Amino acid sequence: GVPMSEAASPTLEWPPASNDPPVLPFRVGLGFDLHRLEEGDYKLIIGGVEIPHSRDAILGALCMPDIGQQFPDTDPKWKGAASDVFVRESVRLMEDRGYQLGNLDATIIAQKPKLSPFKEQIRNNLANLLGAHPSVINLKAKTHEGVDSLGENRSIACHAVVMLMRDPA
Ligand code: CDP
Repeated sequence: GVPMSEAASPTLEWPPASNDPPVLPFRVGLGFDLHRLEEGDYKLIIGGVEIPHSRDAILGALCMPDIGQQFPDTDPKWKGAASDVFVRESVRLMEDRGYQLGNLDATIIAQKPKLSPFKEQIRNNLANLLGAHPSVINLKAKTHEGVDSLGENRSIACHAVVMLMRDPA
């Protein structure tokens, strides 16, 4: 590898001279998403894994950096697209800009079903999708202690944070 000072200093410009995103050795991104669980027979798909569930009110979620603005569903190109399409496009944008995934940490909030049996499978799917080693991807699951829409199983949510590392020059 290249020492950070060498990798960063030729391009690091601070404060930035324009409104373009500055070239930094590291960047962090924070994502949050929540889905309402509708009545009816939905598949619950998290991180590309279909999770068996006993309730018939479900919607799918994929835990990723926020992409809603980048891919507005008012654009026919994105409306109704499977979530892995957005992830692949995000990875392409990341690579175009000279970054790679440092690590990803995510917390899924779901009162049920229990997700721990599926964590490894979700992690491996995300690693494949992101072109990253599974060791840089960490997933946690929590209930919402029975309170609010999350705890009453009327919604499901995820927090995710990524660190991107600038490719060595
Ligand atoms: O102890 P804490 O409040 O952090 O967690 P909890 O909400 O009581 O959940 C206990 C454990 O169940 C968590 O540590 C998760 O490993 C697991 N869990 C899960 O596998 N799937 C869920 N949908 C929720 C929790």
